[in-house]
Amino acid sequence: MELNEALALIRRVPDFPEPGVMFQDITPVLGDPAAFRTVIDAMAETLDGADVIVAIDARGFFFGAAVAYSLGLGVVPVRKVGKLPVVDGKASYSLEYGTAELEIPAGVIQPGQRVAVIDDVLATGGTAAAACELVELAKGEVAGITVLLEIGALGGRSRLVGRKLHTLLTV
Ligand code: PRP
Ligand code: MG
Repeated sequence: MELNEALALIRRVPDFPEPGVMFQDITPVLGDPAAFRTVIDAMAETLDGADVIVAIDARGFFFGAAVAYSLGLGVVPVRKVGKLPVVDGKASYSLEYGTAELEIPAGVIQPGQRVAVIDDVLATGGTAAAACELVELAKGEVAGITVLLEIGALGGRSRLVGRKLHTLLTV
């Protein structure tokens, strides 16, 4: 399947999770075997010599784990606070109302490893920026960030200045 055909399966759902928000639903891409393989292969191609992958809780797990498997790499979850028993630290990021925190497991990334950070969507960039902060706290080196979809109008890219950002689609 062509990449644009796979990406066309992303479904826009108005007023979810609240009025005025246009939700980008990637589940049809996950559920279609040809589309899933196509986007995983395309995401994997953006990685340039990474040693390990960090996948972001929750939707990033699907993409990060599959890319890691396809490249023969390991995958490390960055998780929402309270899910990991031993952590190297936490990083907070802003939500529309208030803040949230992400954590990285202790001692799983080896110091100096080149880490590719993978998620489904880049919106305001807070989540990806926090994940990068955590990789560096764990003494990894952020090799790049790969997302399926960037929502350009939300300016997330500006939170990742100086980092390599790869997106399969920008809307
Ligand atoms: C969504 C999406 C990205 C993040 C992007 O995650 O999966 O991780 O928002 O937003 P940002 O760039 O503004 O930080 P969310 O935590 O809402 O849900 P999930 O647990 O289903 O991944
Ligand atoms: Mg997410």
